[in-house]
Amino acid sequence: MLPLPYGGAYQELCTVPVAALAPRPTRLTFEEAAAVPLAALTAWQALAAAGTVAGRRVLVHAGAGGVGHFAVQFAKHAGAHVTATASARNLDFLRRLGVDEPLDRAEADLSAGEPHDLVLDTVGGAVQRSSWALVRPGGTLITLPEPVDEAYRVPGIAARRVIVAPDGAALGEIGALIDRGAVHVEVQEVLPLREAAEAHRISRQGRVRGKLVLSV
Ligand SMILES: NC(=O)c1ccc[n+]([C@@H]2O[C@H](COP(=O)([O-])OP(=O)(O)OC[C@H]3O[C@@H](n4cnc5c(N)ncnc54)[C@H](OP(=O)(O)O)[C@@H]3O)[C@@H](O)[C@H]2O)c1
Repeated sequence: MLPLPYGGAYQELCTVPVAALAPRPTRLTFEEAAAVPLAALTAWQALAAAGTVAGRRVLVHAGAGGVGHFAVQFAKHAGAHVTATASARNLDFLRRLGVDEPLDRAEADLSAGEPHDLVLDTVGGAVQRSSWALVRPGGTLITLPEPVDEAYRVPGIAARRVIVAPDGAALGEIGALIDRGAVHVEVQEVLPLREAAEAHRISRQGRVRGKLVLSV
């Protein structure tokens, strides 16, 4: 795996190892394509870390977010039964992405249904802590925002944090799914680079559907 070059991406030109690259999906604009690599590879690698998802019950927290909206689509495409949380205004969006059970994160009792084989935590904090109770014994909890809080670890549940790594081959597979129309890329808004600070302000509110993109 290639190391992730943190930071320094807000520019017109940069050097990248060729192994990290894949062709732009032809059905996407450059702005839409820019929304893909980090979020989609994170979702892809998080699901891969959990092993087979076909026929499994998968819960994705924040299924309308950048990583979440890719994760729900990849899991559906792989044959999982997918439950996802979002705010009420995003539940129809989750349905359009193919989510079997969209749940209003403010209202739903997440522990009411059957436990899940895999829970994907894209939120952290209290969401991570409450996720243990939603995984069946022998199941898996994958966290993204922060490491597994060992104080809450439940024996019999495999839990780990996944950190995304550049992977041109996987990105190519993702691009092929996008070009086949099997995966939708949601871009909430494209902002000019000079409004990068505003983009960060919007992002920090934690309500973005899909991705924000900066256009150079
Ligand atoms: N480990 C890695 O390699 C890696 C890679 C990429 C990202 N990350 C991390 O993964 C996290 C997710 O990234 P992202 O880009 O997907 O985030 P994001 O797009 O900014 O997430 C926004 C979404 O989060 C939902 N949300 C906000 N608060 C929530 C809560 N308390 N419970 C449930 N849903 C909530 C919102 O949904 P509603 O508006 O519908 O409520 C919104 O759609 C971030 O912490 C990011 O830093 C980690």
